[in-house]
Amino acid sequence: MATEEKPTSTETASNETTITQILDVVARAAPEIRAGLPGRRIYAEQNNPSGETPMEADIYADEMLCERLGDLDGVGEYASEERQEVIDTGSGLSVCVDPLDGSSNLKPNNTLGTILAVYDAPLPAAGSDMVAAAYVLYGATTTMITAYDDTVTEYVVQDDGEYEAVREDVTLPEDPSVYGFGGRVPEWIDPFTEYVREVESDPSMKLRYGGSMIGDVNQVLTYGGIFAYPTLTDHPEGKLRVQFEGYPVGYILETAGGRSSDGEQSLMDVEKDGLHSRTPVYVGNEELIERLEAALDD
Ligand code: F6P
Repeated sequence: MATEEKPTSTETASNETTITQILDVVARAAPEIRAGLPGRRIYAEQNNPSGETPMEADIYADEMLCERLGDLDGVGEYASEERQEVIDTGSGLSVCVDPLDGSSNLKPNNTLGTILAVYDAPLPAAGSDMVAAAYVLYGATTTMITAYDDTVTEYVVQDDGEYEAVREDVTLPEDPSVYGFGGRVPEWIDPFTEYVREVESDPSMKLRYGGSMIGDVNQVLTYGGIFAYPTLTDHPEGKLRVQFEGYPVGYILETAGGRSSDGEQSLMDVEKDGLHSRTPVYVGNEELIERLEAALDD
């Protein structure tokens, strides 16, 4: 990383230019990350800061994104789920990356993603510091969803890294039809279980859960509905990370006209706490999240 030659903060490129460059780096890295997956479906030797054993593909994607994002003049800090500490890359915006969300899906060859959060503040940042968020989805095709400037856009990313907008001003469909809930069912708290039974009893709703948050969230963004990784009896804070998962999906779903919640408030209002802290995550259509919050409040 070329940190020494970087401009001082007054010379730093404008945030707008930097955000465009960050999104460009992530889109162009996507086909390379995808092409690097086949040989990296094995576990790495060290645990990540959350105590999970990453796949070699997680490390590969993290190193690529750290180097390329850190090289941008307007990026001052880089953090990822795979690293304990924030990397100082100069001065400018802060980026948080989940390089390969849902990497346990690598072995069974299911959907994976890369999640990006951009903050205009040092890390860990607050939800209100977020200036853009995006995710890449490695599914049957490679797509990228961005939320920036009050607009959500979907791009298709080609094998050569070129990308083209295929849906502009993406909003959640008004009539929801899918739901996906994580965590072991016996560990759900009773009010949540009752809420789930109510959702399941609606004949217009069907279960879609794939085990990669970003794949499941993208189903909600596409068809309307709700995704949750809830509070659990022995893990009240749930599983997902605030900086890397909670804030960016909250930002994207809210920009698309939906709602996000930690069970009581918008995900964007969750305390920032530590770099790797967790939060329950509930995102989807407004009416479904309102009913969820009411159920948990009883
Ligand atoms: O954060 C990691 C993650 O893989 C998410 O993408 C996903 O929603 C969740 O964990 C799946 O967890 P579980 O294996 O408990 O369903």
